[in-house]
Amino acid sequence: MDADFRGRDIISIRDFNRGEIEFILDKALEMRQGHAPLLAGRILGLLFFEPSTRTRLSFEVAMKRLGGDVVGFSDSQLTSITKGESLSDTIKTVEAYTDIIVIRHSREGAARLAAEASKKPVINAGDGPNQHPTQTLLDLFTIRKEFGRLDVKVTLMGDLKYGRTVHSLAYALAMFDAEIDLVSPPGLEMPEEVITDLKAMGAEVSVSNRLDISKAQVLYVTRIQKERFPDPEEYAKVRGAYKLTLDSLKDARSDLIILHPLPRVQEIASEIDATKHAKYFDQVANGVPVRMAVLALVTGAIE
Ligand code: NCD
Repeated sequence: MDADFRGRDIISIRDFNRGEIEFILDKALEMRQGHAPLLAGRILGLLFFEPSTRTRLSFEVAMKRLGGDVVGFSDSQLTSITKGESLSDTIKTVEAYTDIIVIRHSREGAARLAAEASKKPVINAGDGPNQHPTQTLLDLFTIRKEFGRLDVKVTLMGDLKYGRTVHSLAYALAMFDAEIDLVSPPGLEMPEEVITDLKAMGAEVSVSNRLDISKAQVLYVTRIQKERFPDPEEYAKVRGAYKLTLDSLKDARSDLIILHPLPRVQEIASEIDATKHAKYFDQVANGVPVRMAVLALVTGAIE
């Protein structure tokens, strides 16, 4: 395929078309099979203005596995931001020191703003409730690994209002003609404009407040995004509203896989972990080759 990824920002999954996504997933597969130190001498800047475990560590491991190095912070309280420095000045500083920038921020649009401030590639590792494109790539990688295809029946269950992983993933699934069932507690439905977009893309979408597990091939569960609720009383109303237990699986297809971007709080009972359906820790592992591919592509180390 003739896609040029060199120097590109990755801000939204919608920055890619279907062929480009497939290309990245193919490259990720190659990364799992071994690789040269393609990024030796290069430095990745990791700017985490919000908590992270997997995204930050897997970007760091991906960079190091490719022979590169990382700098950055995971607590912006210890940076000059607390002195009143703007995001764009911070980005221009990091840009001077590094070859690629990964940013996570609580504000929707922060990654786009960072990309405008930087000539070096910027990768969005989550901007508020908006988008988390590399999570989507690893979600798709995991689904494709299990089913060999992406036009499957997917149920997204949880906080579809504030969850950025489900926003990104829904767009990608629509691109690949997946059937999408949206299940959430009342009040946490997928934003109307997203549903309109998905339908305009030709996707088959259904919306419900109750899980019918029987037809799902992929059940993608998310936690309630407590930190995004403007009003704690609103959170109190939905806290603990859903929990997947062994009992919930009795009508499941035998090929059902259960995914979760993690962290899990209590939406999936731990007894499910030992079932053949649970694939969320495979997802965690897949974050590394997928992010290796992304880093190698935007730096132009592979094409
Ligand atoms: C997610 C996120 O940060 O959006 N975590 C992740 O990157 N795997 C999901 C979440 O926080 O619920």
